Amino acid sequence: MASIEIRNLRKTFGKVVAVNEVSLSMTDGEFVALLGPSGCGKTTTLRMISGLEMPDSGSIHINGKDVTSLPPRSRDVAMVFQDYALYPHMTILDNIGYPLKVRGAPHNELKEQVTSVANNLQIGGLLARRPGQLSGGQQQRVAVARAVVHHAQVFLFDEPLSNLDAKLRLEARAFLKHLQREVGITAVYVTHDQAEAMALADKIVVMKDGSIMQAGTPLEIYRHPVNTFVASFIGNPPMNLLPCEINGGSIYVQTGDSPQAMSAAGLRLPAALAKGSQFTLGVRPEHIRVLTEPAADSIKGTLYVTQTLGGEALVIVRVGEQLITIRLFEDEAPPLPNEVYLSFDADHLFFFGPDGQVLR
Ligand SMILES: Nc1ncnc2c1ncn2[C@@H]1O[C@H](COP(=O)(O)OP(=O)(O)O)[C@@H](O)[C@H]1O
Ligand SMILES: [Mg+2]
Repeated sequence: MASIEIRNLRKTFGKVVAVNEVSLSMTDGEFVALLGPSGCGKTTTLRMISGLEMPDSGSIHINGKDVTSLPPRSRDVAMVFQDYALYPHMTILDNIGYPLKVRGAPHNELKEQVTSVANNLQIGGLLARRPGQLSGGQQQRVAVARAVVHHAQVFLFDEPLSNLDAKLRLEARAFLKHLQREVGITAVYVTHDQAEAMALADKIVVMKDGSIMQAGTPLEIYRHPVNTFVASFIGNPPMNLLPCEINGGSIYVQTGDSPQAMSAAGLRLPAALAKGSQFTLGVRPEHIRVLTEPAADSIKGTLYVTQTLGGEALVIVRVGEQLITIRLFEDEAPPLPNEVYLSFDADHLFFFGPDGQVLR
């Protein structure tokens, strides 16, 4: 177990700034997810922590010790790669035991430790097989088992579940969270899947174009996104973002040729929102009601489609040129007329300025 501190980490590949002044601290036993779209610098950040990649500038500290110039083997980190990186010609026993073998552990001891960890991961019966004879989920457990026998201080995961089908992914997600609870590992977990980050992490670090947009607990990020990027990246379906203007006591939603007014009475408007100013209104699908009659604070739309998902339903409504998604916690989408009215939950609105930053 270990604490990690990253200071002003920067890495370029030619003209591409892969990681730009990233700073981050993690306490002992913390599970941190690096979350962001493909190409935002997650893997590069992880590889710098592991020592596989050297930063251009900045430093990495594990347990207070500057490891920036140390090779991977001197950092005591275990990395689980996206493709598991198992040795195809070796048995599962030898794959898991490899870090112990490198350390010169006697075979008996190696076998004992591997068997114990493998049993915990429910792959104890597969030790004589080779990776090619295992399912994707089992291979993933082998890769994790290899990291666990390593007894590393820090676990680094690079999208370890992305090759699994949906059901196995959920199982593996629960297992990793359980493992972290049991063993109390310090882990950095890279993913582009916001649901996975929400489910696993104590802290989420949202990245875009090599920079950190926001870091916080899953709930902080969901409830208080700092900009439209984070707002629309977290949550499924994503937050609806509507271009608006405020004037007098009304908000004008500008999604088409003719703006629609809705009353701003009863809304807690941010102080930074001046009269006559343009802004983006953010509202999550779970915070919109669909009405069949107009109300003072509603806007009009036409029903686009409904989707019954079982346990919840989505209603998608066209307002001007924009589609707005509403999430209902009902087994079945209700029958709706073609013309509907949307009312936003006043307690759950977000206001963003023209630069996309949240207004306070
Ligand atoms: N070895 C490399 N050579 C050149 N460019 C790279 C290399 N590794 C990563 N990059 C670039 O750096 C950026 C960040 O990549 P990466 O860290 O792999 O992103 P992510 O893991 O978030 O998808 C991307 O633009 C990628 O093309
Ligand atoms: Mg990557």
